[in-house]
Amino acid sequence: MQRRDFLKNAAAFTIGASPCIATGAGPAPLRRANSGRKIAFGAAIDVADIDRPDMVELFKAHCTSLTPRNALKWMTNERVEGRPDYKGADRIADFARSIGCTVYGHTLIWYRVPAWVTAMTDAGELRTAMQQRITRTIRHFAGSVQAWDVVNEPMEYSAARWRDSVFQRLLGLDHIRACFELAHETNQNAQLVLNETHLEKAGPMYDARRSLLLDLIGQLHQQGVPLHCIGLQSHFRPGLDQLDSKALGDFCASLKQMGIGVRITELDGSCRFVSRLGKVDMARTYSAMFSDVVRVAGTRGDLRGVTCWGLAEKYQPAENGATGNCRSRVLPYDDDMRVRPAFGSLMSTIEELNR
Ligand code: XIL
Repeated sequence: MQRRDFLKNAAAFTIGASPCIATGAGPAPLRRANSGRKIAFGAAIDVADIDRPDMVELFKAHCTSLTPRNALKWMTNERVEGRPDYKGADRIADFARSIGCTVYGHTLIWYRVPAWVTAMTDAGELRTAMQQRITRTIRHFAGSVQAWDVVNEPMEYSAARWRDSVFQRLLGLDHIRACFELAHETNQNAQLVLNETHLEKAGPMYDARRSLLLDLIGQLHQQGVPLHCIGLQSHFRPGLDQLDSKALGDFCASLKQMGIGVRITELDGSCRFVSRLGKVDMARTYSAMFSDVVRVAGTRGDLRGVTCWGLAEKYQPAENGATGNCRSRVLPYDDDMRVRPAFGSLMSTIEELNR
């Protein structure tokens, strides 16, 4: 569908006090409301999405930032040592440029690495490979990627300790500092992010995770390490996770005091545990799930962007524990490309914060 047809099909509707435009399938084009504003809105994109006209219309309508979901991971870019392949990510960068979006780089250093990196046992060899990965990738995308997840998920998922990754095993925790220093030397203009999961939730283990990470950030900050932002992945599991507004707010406020921002980087919901909620209004549950974390980060912290981990469920794989209201991970548009009310709530929350 051409953009003008897409807009022609639009119908007026109202969210809060502001009149918006809605398509038969969706709410107001979010990017119009947010372009040039502090809190950008974006979504993860797969290379295949570029060939899906319905997805292209959604990215055009709502996003000012796109995050390659898998196309900028080391396993994708260098399956064979010394033979970098950025074809997919280049396609995404070209597409982003063609629709006026920036590209958010996910991710330089993550524990999931190509097999030849996992097999390393020598610290010097790993350090060299890590340095090449960072400098080569940042240089390749110097004109198109403005922000990078330099280090992704350095902590174990469900524990308050550093992850037993090949980097941690051979180089120790100092590899995090080294990655940020090198990224900054390679491109002084890029915004550098440490991205982590399970920082938003309630419970003693999550308290301990926030505190472990905050200690490290404090040390890096004192050493003058160029770490500009913390990414809150915000993958939620309704029925299992509770947002801890107070603890997350305090965490974001501590970062703000150090001049460090936050971004919501991978917002979505799992359907695995929703049956535990019993009879509840799922539309409300998802609305709260999408909006509350953004409101906390935006009121207590220096929130710079919100990214959903995809825009539509239609092309996502089915998830274990799927129920009638949710087949794959919950995103702004469902399996039939119908907008979820949660997206309207998210949009008005971002608009409020951007006012
Ligand atoms: C996931 C992708 O969504 C999947 O398509 C892929 O198979 C595995 O990775 N945290 C991250 C993301 O930082 O890179 C992960 O993305 C989801 C969890």
